[in-house]
Amino acid sequence: MSVIASWDPTAYGRFSAERSRPFADLVAQVRTDDPGLVVDLGSGHGPATLTLARLWPQARVVGVDASEAMLEAARELDRDGRVEWVQSDLREWDPASLGQAPDVVVTSSTLQWVPGHLDLLDAWVGALADGGWFALQVPGNFDAPSHRLMREAAEHHERAGELAAALDLPVVGEPATYLRYLSRLGCEVDAWETTYLHVLDPEGKDDNPVLAWVEATGLRPVLDILTGEQERAAFLEPYAAHLSQAYPRSPEGVLFPFRRVFAVAQKKPSTP
Ligand SMILES: C[S@@+](CC[C@H](N)C(=O)[O-])C[C@H]1O[C@@H](n2cnc3c(N)ncnc32)[C@H](O)[C@@H]1O
Repeated sequence: MSVIASWDPTAYGRFSAERSRPFADLVAQVRTDDPGLVVDLGSGHGPATLTLARLWPQARVVGVDASEAMLEAARELDRDGRVEWVQSDLREWDPASLGQAPDVVVTSSTLQWVPGHLDLLDAWVGALADGGWFALQVPGNFDAPSHRLMREAAEHHERAGELAAALDLPVVGEPATYLRYLSRLGCEVDAWETTYLHVLDPEGKDDNPVLAWVEATGLRPVLDILTGEQERAAFLEPYAAHLSQAYPRSPEGVLFPFRRVFAVAQKKPSTP
């Protein structure tokens, strides 16, 4: 099973418009005007969490993330100190540390990295204030060519065993998985999926923009292992060539379909 991958805020910040869209689409379904406490689990390098602070200007906002590099970039971006940034592995983070019940908990593009995340929902939803909101988004693209070709390139590499273990990521659910799970935790749930058709690099400046995309996310566990120049090239050259075939350049740019799974749950008031 995977360990926590390293993160590079600069690389992740590329394609920021494409990466911020699912967060905005998720939060749009959280229908509360004046929450007291808002928490972002897996807050990354900060821009998404700061949109929460702008959306709910009166709220106390907390961002939790395991990566010191991402948190450092977030603190840098948050010049007014609007958000409380907390370093913690989500598997160990205790909602009681907040000192009050959150009204909104958001987690976007993060739980695919967290083994056993379904079991964690119990504590997170349990900690919500009555009527509070829990909103999650995870990628649902693990059978897409970008990931299938990554696993194939790993199989052919001399360090295949280590790479296979690193790419053995936690399984993400289908919309129905989260709908059932969160309903059983006492929530009204809206779950859905969206496939975005990203148009990468319309200017034609980059040979392989899909590679640049995954280098900042799904490929991190591989890059953490293959630190030597030659062993890295032995992986990246065939993988990049196969990616170019799977995602050819069109007159509009490189079309990159990306499926994502969403669930937004509102906790029903507890009965006395
Ligand atoms: C793809 S980024 C998503 C950032 C942001 N939520 C967004 O939507 O742009 C994933 C983040 O999850 C964090 N992360 C991954 N595994 C984690 C864990 N077990 N505990 C806490 N944070 C984790 C990473 O450090 C990274 O910042």
